[in-house]
Amino acid sequence: MYRTHTCGELRLADAGKEVTLAGWVQRVRDKGSLVWIDLRDRYGITQLFLDGNSDPKLIEQARTFGREFVIQAKGTVIERESKNPNMPTGDIELKVNAFTLLNGSKTPPFTIEDVSDGGDDLRMKYRYLDIRRNPVRKNLELRHRMAMLVRNYLSNLNFLEIETPMLIKSTPEGARDFVVPSRMNPGEFYALPQSPQQYKQLLMVAGMDRYFQIVRCFRDEDLRADRQPEFTQIDCEMSFVEQEDVLNTFEGLAKHLFKEMKGLEFDQFPRMTWHDAMKYYGSDKPDIRFGMKFVELNDVVKGKGFGLFDNADLVVGINAEGCSEYTRKQLDQLTEFVKRPQVGAGGMVYIKYNTDGTFKSSVDKFYTPDDLKVIADKFGAKPGDLMLILCGEAMKTRVQLNALRLEMGNQLGLRNPDVYAPLWVIDFPLLEWDEETQRYYAMHHPFTAPKPEDEALLDDPTKWSDIRANAYDIVMNGVEVGGGSIRIHDRTLQNKMFHTLGFTDEKAQEQFGFLMGAFEYGAPPHAGLAFGFDRLCSLFGGADSIRDFIAFPKNNAGRDVMSGSPAPIAQEQLDELQIALNLK
Ligand code: AMO
Repeated sequence: MYRTHTCGELRLADAGKEVTLAGWVQRVRDKGSLVWIDLRDRYGITQLFLDGNSDPKLIEQARTFGREFVIQAKGTVIERESKNPNMPTGDIELKVNAFTLLNGSKTPPFTIEDVSDGGDDLRMKYRYLDIRRNPVRKNLELRHRMAMLVRNYLSNLNFLEIETPMLIKSTPEGARDFVVPSRMNPGEFYALPQSPQQYKQLLMVAGMDRYFQIVRCFRDEDLRADRQPEFTQIDCEMSFVEQEDVLNTFEGLAKHLFKEMKGLEFDQFPRMTWHDAMKYYGSDKPDIRFGMKFVELNDVVKGKGFGLFDNADLVVGINAEGCSEYTRKQLDQLTEFVKRPQVGAGGMVYIKYNTDGTFKSSVDKFYTPDDLKVIADKFGAKPGDLMLILCGEAMKTRVQLNALRLEMGNQLGLRNPDVYAPLWVIDFPLLEWDEETQRYYAMHHPFTAPKPEDEALLDDPTKWSDIRANAYDIVMNGVEVGGGSIRIHDRTLQNKMFHTLGFTDEKAQEQFGFLMGAFEYGAPPHAGLAFGFDRLCSLFGGADSIRDFIAFPKNNAGRDVMSGSPAPIAQEQLDELQIALNLK
């Protein structure tokens, strides 16, 4: 038997027991006749102890152990003389009477401690060592607990977990596909699924009624802190449901996770239309942990001779409460912030409502104190507040002001990761115009149903931008953690949708024929949603990057620096696939 107990298990009640432990040497402290070894495994650390009464050979042996050596220690559990209240095993130590060296180790390239001296790249290269560190290990444990809670919760609601294929047909909508060549069908390719969307709809046609899957998805898109090329969804679909049923079911799941993981209870999650989210927050995923709602100012700022505002499509601002003491330098920094190419604003106007009731603004030339008071009233501002205003084309300006609002939220400490503010964003537009390709795309995906009251607008191309979808996102703290929609289950409507998206009958048949064919055999009304599981985990773990919650993530260039993928393949493999490279 390699071990009788784990390194996190023994307590004072075990004193006197003969036990065997196995694990990694965290460190050896050698004080001559006294030697301590911290022995670590996934469950914790237990202190091993040798003293003047121990066999000198054992002390000799202990001195040969380096960091990360794998050893086995047999001995007696004893009460410690100086206890360590910070460790669960801190009341005891193991008085060793035999060691077995199970394996040596090279000196690790960074310290395996909670705070490591290893940089990001190095830790990724040796990810298996990084995972030995508590913070990473805890994140993976959190991920496991979340997955178990999800499975149990959904299973109790009659959802079946059903696997869908990983080698599927490439579809042109959405992000780019990762493709896999087929040796047996030269010149033909599978795609890795961006999501199991079509299969889960087929499972509804197949009568499975309630499906879920914790499933890997693949998207060849530009990477960010909250995006990986392969990521995991909690993918769900239900039959005979309306939007209300779907929102309630998955709000229930989210609440269950909050309760079990965080001990938090919520009333009904607030809901906001996409239109209002854009108008008041400039984002389809507003962070509502704090206020600073947008205030539109066209009616109070125009006609006073300030050309920039007079000519702007929209003048809109936020009120930062209690910030009237911001210095010139701080305001300049904010102006620089909005002018960065990532934000792209031309500039920023500020109005300070001083605590003595006077105003100081960057547009004093054009606005009298009375004018500024009218603007301040529009904001509902009080003495001591600072108003920040942007102007320009409406949608662009809103998006820029969103960046400024989030920056102010950060500066003022209003985005506390221990505070959770879930939100449903509903009524997304059905279609999105793309300037580059000069056509409409489905904002969610081509199977999303329009709101019944907007369906008739599909017949009038000038109204396409106004059509609302029965589509919804679940947002937490400014992160889109999930999204879904009511699906089209009527073949005629689906055809109309494909035409709207610029598919000919032949093209639609070629791409989606199998789904359309299935819809001719009694497709039930159905709807669903998918959570981004990695994002959900990082949110519950209070971290920004989903990488921390993935055992073996890719870096920002899509590389696995540990295994060295992607990598060229051998000429024989290419020949077998009948693929000739044409690298530029
Ligand atoms: P959607 O494309 O909105 O919907 O994806 C669902 C959720 O998956 C997460 N997500 C990602 N997480 C990490 N890295 C990525 N690259 C990434 N892309 C998406 C997000 C997102 O909200 N089939 C539909 C769902 C449905 O309609 O039922 C779908 O895939 O949290």
